[in-house]
Amino acid sequence: MNNHLDVAALQQQAKTQQEIETAITRIFAIEDDGLQHALAAAKNAGLPEIQISPIQGKLLQLLAVACNAHKILEIGSLAGYSGIWLAHGLRSGGRMITLEINPKHAEVVQDSFARAGVADRAEVRVGKALDLLPLLAEESPFDLVFIDADKPSYPQYLEWALQLTRLGGIIVADNCIRSGLALREKADDDAYMAGLIEYNKRVSSNPRLVSLALAMDENYTDGFTIAVVQSEAKGD
Ligand code: SAH
Ligand code: DHB
Ligand code: MG
Repeated sequence: MNNHLDVAALQQQAKTQQEIETAITRIFAIEDDGLQHALAAAKNAGLPEIQISPIQGKLLQLLAVACNAHKILEIGSLAGYSGIWLAHGLRSGGRMITLEINPKHAEVVQDSFARAGVADRAEVRVGKALDLLPLLAEESPFDLVFIDADKPSYPQYLEWALQLTRLGGIIVADNCIRSGLALREKADDDAYMAGLIEYNKRVSSNPRLVSLALAMDENYTDGFTIAVVQSEAKGD
């Protein structure tokens, strides 16, 4: 009997990254009716198909559960897809607030939250995030903040997230890899990439945070930067 590892045979069965993503999704990140409806509603309304992947959604839910989330803040709702995953991670009696600049998007979100059965705990607020964030102090601290709106503002969103998140809370931002372009030293006149680069620099060098960028899209070219708040701000 041959019981050594047959590397050649295993390599023949090896899957591409996309096949691995599909297999993980099938086992771990199954979309329920509410999530499927949110995707269909987004498509019907002609919204851009830029929501997170099911694996990213499941990771948001997992992180929310890991920090026993009672209050969640999302910046950039689109059609409510990521918001539904987050709402599924709230503990009983918890609440999620999501900020969205586009009233047409917000209407789809409201409908999708209702269809997904989370409208009792998930609320969309319409406006520019940088106008709405200063009004959230009274409702803070949040256990988890998910940043996924306009990229040039990411560094400002980080400053707000740091103010609004509790010790042990988690700050997640989408699109922080962008095929490695968001991990460069400089952005050459591109406000979109400059925002992402600055975000990654600030998060990784902040002594209050433990952080990591994780490639997790179909081809492992984009993903979240995840940061956990490990210590209080100086002076607190
Ligand atoms: N989180 C969503 C995708 C968000 S796409 C998901 O994964 O399902 C980005 C969203 O941010 C868009 O709906 C866009 O209208 C919104 N947005 C862009 N700039 C914004 C701003 N300044 N304030 C609030 N929302 C903004
Ligand atoms: C874009 C924005 C996103 O949040 C995303 O996940 C993908 C693409 C964009 O601005 O093109
Ligand atoms: Mg995104």
